[in-house]
Amino acid sequence: MRAIWYERQGAASDVLTLGERPEPSPGPGEVAVTVQASGVNPSDVKIRSGARGPMAVALQIPHSDGAGVIKAVGEGVDPSRLGERVWLYQAAYQREGGSCAETCVLPAEQAVPLPDQISIKAGAALGIPAMTAHRALFCTGGVAGKTVLVTGGAGAVGHSAIQIAKWAGAETILTTVSSPAKAAIAMAAGADHVINYRQQDVVEAVRAVTGEAGVDHIVEVELGGNLAQSAQVIAEHGTIAWYGSEAVREPVFSTYPLMFRNITLHGIFLYAITAEQRSSAVADINSALEAGLLRPLIDSVWPLEDAVKAHERVESGGRAGAVIVQPGGGEEKP
Ligand SMILES: NC(=O)c1ccc[n+]([C@@H]2O[C@H](COP(=O)([O-])OP(=O)(O)OC[C@H]3O[C@@H](n4cnc5c(N)ncnc54)[C@H](OP(=O)(O)O)[C@@H]3O)[C@@H](O)[C@H]2O)c1
Repeated sequence: MRAIWYERQGAASDVLTLGERPEPSPGPGEVAVTVQASGVNPSDVKIRSGARGPMAVALQIPHSDGAGVIKAVGEGVDPSRLGERVWLYQAAYQREGGSCAETCVLPAEQAVPLPDQISIKAGAALGIPAMTAHRALFCTGGVAGKTVLVTGGAGAVGHSAIQIAKWAGAETILTTVSSPAKAAIAMAAGADHVINYRQQDVVEAVRAVTGEAGVDHIVEVELGGNLAQSAQVIAEHGTIAWYGSEAVREPVFSTYPLMFRNITLHGIFLYAITAEQRSSAVADINSALEAGLLRPLIDSVWPLEDAVKAHERVESGGRAGAVIVQPGGGEEKP
């Protein structure tokens, strides 16, 4: 099969190799999937670059997320799954065989039925973004009836978080973005109030909506950089669920304003969530897809030959939505 792989970490142009690999076959409890779209996430490029520590395997076919069609099943897997359209998650996490190949073999439960109305490309944009957004929204029991602030609402995770919060019954959704174009994306996703954090005072803008009470729950892309403002707008007993803190990794903050109001700082690391949390995320994501309330945004689509460019696109920070590589040349089954 044709695939992209690397055997050492470094810049995409230095280490990503395109070539032929042996066709893998599914073992017990596994499925083999014809990959029609492979999603590139920041995590994939950080693991490739070495920013997340040494390689977990000697040879890595990258990308955790993907989508395609089941073409073979291993012992113990229901043969009726043959031909099923599926979205994939955690294909490459501490495993050799990620989704950036014509065939991906992985445990059957990591190939989730993809609702008919959802395109294969959108299916490849679900794993990391939507599952992270789900955990960040449900880490303290869900957001039904709550006021939620999603920072970075045009980012892959943030965009999913707005949509899943809506599906989950949030009362009011506020979000922050950095440009009018990103404001339009966040508004289309279902945000009730969009704040341009480069032009507006976020604390004032949030309070204009919530009054002094503030927001019940924050889905936070940049804990360190935003903590000073978040501490001023989070409501008593509220939760700041953070999944990123790239700009300020070691924040210094005043503890009392958070402690006196029983604020929870809840870290989210998708790869380490429990099996129960994963199944709950998968079930809710499929419900939101079927309800027409979750539609991932696609930034760009690249042929397998341009996997380096796809990684560089993610690293550029300029994308809005998922970056997709098409290992099989882009054909999609009806
Ligand atoms: N912990 C986990 O399990 C987990 C899971 C998924 C992703 N992540 C991490 O989360 C980060 C985002 O991932 P992604 O896939 O969503 O990336 P993305 O699509 O590039 O989105 C990031 C968004 O955050 C915005 N942003 C950056 N700084 C901000 C700030 N201070 N306030 C408000 N918005 C801000 C960016 O837009 P502007 O710069 O234009 O504002 C961009 O829209 C990455 O570092 C990724 O590695 C962690």
